[in-house]
Amino acid sequence: MKYSNITIGIIPLLCLALSACGKQESADTATHTTTAEEVVKIGAAAPLTGPQSHLGKDNENGTKMAIEEANAKGLIIGGKKIRFELISEDDQADPRLGTVVAQKFVDQQVKGVIGHLNSGTTIPSSKIYSDAGIVQISPAATNVTYTSQGFKTAFRVMANDAQQGKVLGYYATHQLGGKKIAIIDDRTAYGQGLADEFKKAVTEAGAQIVAHEFTTDKATDFMSILTKIKSVKPDVLFYGGMDAQGGPMMKQVRGLGLTTRFLTGDGGSTPEFIKLAGADAEGAYSSLPGVPLAKMPGGEEFGARFTPKYGQIQLYAPYCYDAVNVMISAMQQADSVEPAKYLPKLAGITHDGVTAKINFDEKGDLKGGMITLYQVKNGQWEVLETLETKP
Ligand code: ALA
Repeated sequence: MKYSNITIGIIPLLCLALSACGKQESADTATHTTTAEEVVKIGAAAPLTGPQSHLGKDNENGTKMAIEEANAKGLIIGGKKIRFELISEDDQADPRLGTVVAQKFVDQQVKGVIGHLNSGTTIPSSKIYSDAGIVQISPAATNVTYTSQGFKTAFRVMANDAQQGKVLGYYATHQLGGKKIAIIDDRTAYGQGLADEFKKAVTEAGAQIVAHEFTTDKATDFMSILTKIKSVKPDVLFYGGMDAQGGPMMKQVRGLGLTTRFLTGDGGSTPEFIKLAGADAEGAYSSLPGVPLAKMPGGEEFGARFTPKYGQIQLYAPYCYDAVNVMISAMQQADSVEPAKYLPKLAGITHDGVTAKINFDEKGDLKGGMITLYQVKNGQWEVLETLETKP
C-alpha cells in the first residue's frame, strides 16, 4: 500500500486552525502532497551493563550513528518517508536474557535486529527471530553454529570462528613455532567454539595440547588454572574469551612469571584489554576478523566521524554501522521495510560497506573474510599481517 500524501490526515488540524472545514478540504487535498511518515523500529541488543558494557556501548553507538544518518537523509521506502527508531536493549551477554530481549523485539514488531553481540546470546535468540520471520544481522557473533542452523533470517557481517581459529592456529604453530600449547576458555559459545577451532588447527599442524583449562565470563582470578598451566611449560597459551577476563589473565600470567606467548581472539583485541593488563599487555597477540581500520574501504572516514562523537572505537562499531546500512539498503531495493520482502534482497546484496564489500553466502555468512593478527607494542595493538580465509 502506498501513500503519496497525508492531506487527509492533516485536514482536521487545518480545519481547526482555519475554523473553516467543509469545502476547504477539497482545495487542500489538491495542494498538499506531503509524504506520510512511517516509523520503522530496529532492535539492537548487546551487553550494556556488566563487564562487557564498553563493547555493548560501542555497538550501540555504531548502530545509532547509522540510524541517525539514515533519518537525516529522509529516505522514502514504499512511498512513505521512513523514520527509523532504534530500540536498544541490554542482554547482559546472558543467553537466557538474550531470548527475553528477542521476544520483546518480536512483540514490538521490529523490522530487523542488529545483534546480538555475543555468540552466546545470538544463537538462542536466532530461533526466535527465525520463527517470527525477523531479519537478524549480527555485527560480532562469530560462532559457526549461528549461521549453520538453516535459519534464512540469520546473517553476519564478519568472518566466523572456523576462519578465525584456523588463522590463530596457523599463527601459533607456523609463525610463533608453538609445539606445546595450553588453552583456557570461558565455556561460552564463543570462547569454547573458538578454542575448539584453534585446537583443531594446532593439532592438525602437529602441535601438542599440554593443557586445556576452563573459566567463566564472570571470573577475575585465574591463579589456580595458571599455576597448573605453568607446571606443563607451554610455549603458547591461547585464551578463548572476552577482554574482561583476557586482560586480568594476561596480568596474572606475567605475575606468575610465565613467559609463554599469549594469544587471544577478537573478544580480547581491544583497548580495554591493554587497559586491564597494563604494562603486562606488551607482546600479547590477538586476531580480529576483517582488515585493519586504516585498510577498510571507509574505515578512516568512519573513525573521523565516530571518534569525536562517541570516543575511541572499541571493536565492532564499524560492523554495526555496516549491519544497519546493509539492512536499509535491502529495504530500499525491495521498496519495503517488511522482512519477508527485503530478506531476499539482503541475501543477494552487494553493499559497499565501511568495513568491506558485503555479500552473503547461502548460509548468511560474509563471503570472503579476512583475519588480521595484531600484537601489543608500546601500549597499542599493532598490525602484524592480514590473512584471507574461506567461510
Ligand atoms: N565474537 C564474539 C562472540 O562471538 C564477540 O561472542
